[in-house]
Amino acid sequence: MERIEWVIDRCRLLQAIGAEFDETKPFAGLTIGTGIHLEPKTVALLLTLQRGGAELVSTGNLNTTQQEACDYLAACGVRIVGGPTSDPAEHDAHLWEVVRSHPDLLLDNGGDLFARFVEEPYDSLRGGTEETTSGRMRLEPLRDGIGLPVLVINDSPIKQFAENEHAVGQSVLESFLRLTNLSTNGKRVTVFGYGACGRGVAANFRNAHAVVSVVERDPVKRLQAMLDGFLVPDRDDALRTADVVVTVTGVDGVVTAADAPLLRPNAILANAGHFPWEIDAAGLAAAGATVLEDGHMVNLAGPRPLGNSVESMDIGFALQARCLEAVARGEVGAGACVVPVPRAIDEQVAASFVSSAA
Ligand SMILES: NC(=O)c1ccc[n+]([C@@H]2O[C@H](COP(=O)([O-])OP(=O)(O)OC[C@H]3O[C@@H](n4cnc5c(N)ncnc54)[C@H](O)[C@@H]3O)[C@@H](O)[C@H]2O)c1
Repeated sequence: MERIEWVIDRCRLLQAIGAEFDETKPFAGLTIGTGIHLEPKTVALLLTLQRGGAELVSTGNLNTTQQEACDYLAACGVRIVGGPTSDPAEHDAHLWEVVRSHPDLLLDNGGDLFARFVEEPYDSLRGGTEETTSGRMRLEPLRDGIGLPVLVINDSPIKQFAENEHAVGQSVLESFLRLTNLSTNGKRVTVFGYGACGRGVAANFRNAHAVVSVVERDPVKRLQAMLDGFLVPDRDDALRTADVVVTVTGVDGVVTAADAPLLRPNAILANAGHFPWEIDAAGLAAAGATVLEDGHMVNLAGPRPLGNSVESMDIGFALQARCLEAVARGEVGAGACVVPVPRAIDEQVAASFVSSAA
């Protein structure tokens, strides 16, 4: 409880938006269905939306829900569906329960809610937001079925550099240290993916004195990794030499059981991508490899999971609050289906953070 309140107090942007929402009530009479990690920073976001007049029906993501966050939200009047689970079938039922309560707005993380809406559409949905890269990839082909404004927070340049690059890199390093109690000095670390998240993961391990290789299927980004000073061996060599392998691609089956013969005996694998399918954890474990947290998002797993820094999430969640406000007020039309955050919102949030830090 103290930890949750400490986090809420340090979400400066959300606090300021909450104070504004106390007066303006953009969500008065509306229900927001949410399917996002339930942990202290999301508590701060959901309570901000509640201050704007929203009723909330909320479930978490697979394997990342923190019971204390659920209890705190429930005590504040949020309807919590389910609780911590790593069982995909149980999680599926929770997601359906949120969608079948027919919220007016959806706050999605991974495309779970909008994908189900497309299967069982209803008239009162106004649209909503999607937080992640993985969700955007999943929802793009569903645009015709959605037909409503859906703003993708991930595709704000602010989210890209504030969270994906700087914060994911820091929290994946912190999680590796916390979960293994091993050093990074001189370790050979292979990072799969050199998007925003991969750039941060690679940089943070290098800053922690590891020798970092990058495997990237896009030749342009592979060149970028090389010019940033990383080794860019071919995939199999990068696996053969690695003490630590981190996947952060958003793509399934990046490292599979077929790769087990390539791995060093003590190699440790971890996934930081949204879904736990990047590493075939079961297949590799059967072959004797160590996969941290069964391949679930490593920076929101294990004992005392912290996730990304409070400041990075405050910025990203300020974008969330402003985007949901714009959809609720009808300021974006159906043409804005699975599109980036409007530039005016990026500018507003960026200016607020800079002035609040002054
Ligand atoms: N752990 C967290 O806290 C956190 C936070 C934000 C995003 N994410 C997730 O991290 C993942 C990556 O996000 P991003 O914003 O960096 O995405 P991105 O699309 O910018 O980058 C992914 C990169 O992976 C590369 N890639 C794809 N398949 C590959 C393969 N088999 N081998 C090597 N490279 C491959 C792509 O070419 C791309 O450059 C997504 O699943 C996203 O949802 C996690």
